[in-house]
Amino acid sequence: MVFLRVDANVPLEDGVITDDGRIRAFLPTLDVLRNAGARVVVASHLGRPEGVADPKYSLAPVATRLADLIQGPVRFIDHVSGPAAFEGVREGAPGSVAVIQNLRFDPRETSKVDSDRAALAAEWADHVDFVVSDGFGVVHRKQASVVELPSLRPSVAGLLIEREVDVVTRLTKAVEHPYTVVLGGSKVSDKLGVIEALLPAADNILIGGGMVFTVLAAQGHAIASSLVERDSIPTVRDFLSKAAELGVEIVLPDDIVVAESFAADSPHVVLSSDALESGPAGAAGIGLDIGPSSQKVFAEVIRRSKTVFWNGPMGVFEFAAFSAGTRAVAEALTAVQGLSVVGGGDSAAAVRALGFNEDSFGHISTGGGASLEFLEGTVLPGLEILGWQS
Ligand code: 3PG
Repeated sequence: MVFLRVDANVPLEDGVITDDGRIRAFLPTLDVLRNAGARVVVASHLGRPEGVADPKYSLAPVATRLADLIQGPVRFIDHVSGPAAFEGVREGAPGSVAVIQNLRFDPRETSKVDSDRAALAAEWADHVDFVVSDGFGVVHRKQASVVELPSLRPSVAGLLIEREVDVVTRLTKAVEHPYTVVLGGSKVSDKLGVIEALLPAADNILIGGGMVFTVLAAQGHAIASSLVERDSIPTVRDFLSKAAELGVEIVLPDDIVVAESFAADSPHVVLSSDALESGPAGAAGIGLDIGPSSQKVFAEVIRRSKTVFWNGPMGVFEFAAFSAGTRAVAEALTAVQGLSVVGGGDSAAAVRALGFNEDSFGHISTGGGASLEFLEGTVLPGLEILGWQS
């Protein structure tokens, strides 16, 4: 029996999968195993149920979608461990596929206590011949199925991990210039590590999304009701001066779409970034997208780059009125003559939600935190255990 650890942590709305990219991403590995006649048990986490069997985080919809995608039967085993899980697994014929319940329903999967994780892994190890680790999005987590189980049984990386590591490595070693890094999303604190790590390699860093307001605040702009992480301001000031020393161009939006409130139909205006200091939005607005002039500038810088890494939407792309910035960046990436990489769950979901063809990009990574930590040079426990990083 092959234990296939994947990252099927997909977005759900009322129990319906809204983006199945992470499921489709491990299909090549699953195909190889099925064609070889393996009995495959697909295991994943979904969300953060904190060790409780919360039906909201059930993997049942993943099993159903997987059956559609492989056009074949997929057994869903509503257990993570214990006799019922192992019995269900044993029933499979060669070439069969089963999905077990959300690993994080068992508190030992994510426990901070080594012996808890080891105990869960040991239970599984008794029933598993091989482990195939293909959940790139979770390799930065020290969890029972990611680290302890592969340490107990013969283990290999799957095709997705192979491809992800190859691409992300090309963003750090032997990079073709000009190299542009586009960062967005809401929290600058999540991106400080990667900014620091990429500063020596990058030629341009474009910043949009909610995190831009912390950067603007660090430069002395008043940013109204927009998101700001005050604690990060000193670090942001440091990276701005380091960038200046290294000659890295930090490009911030010169205009912002400012809304009255955080709502899809909120009235909004476009204001220049300077106007944020004293304009009407200075009193009450909230920035929800980069403006048309910034979109043009960002797109030009991206298009003339040979390597582009993009992580984080430029605005609240889920609301049509505030999706133009994210769309413009995605569009520009499709025109890059070189390596273009979309990294992170939100940006990957954005390009699919906005109707882009996945093949127009060099690579769409399934890893959010994992890709960022890899780029930061952190040793990721789920790769280290497979001998893929040291
Ligand atoms: C992700 O969505 O980045 C991965 O599935 C990991 O999820 P986690 O941050 O809850 O560990």
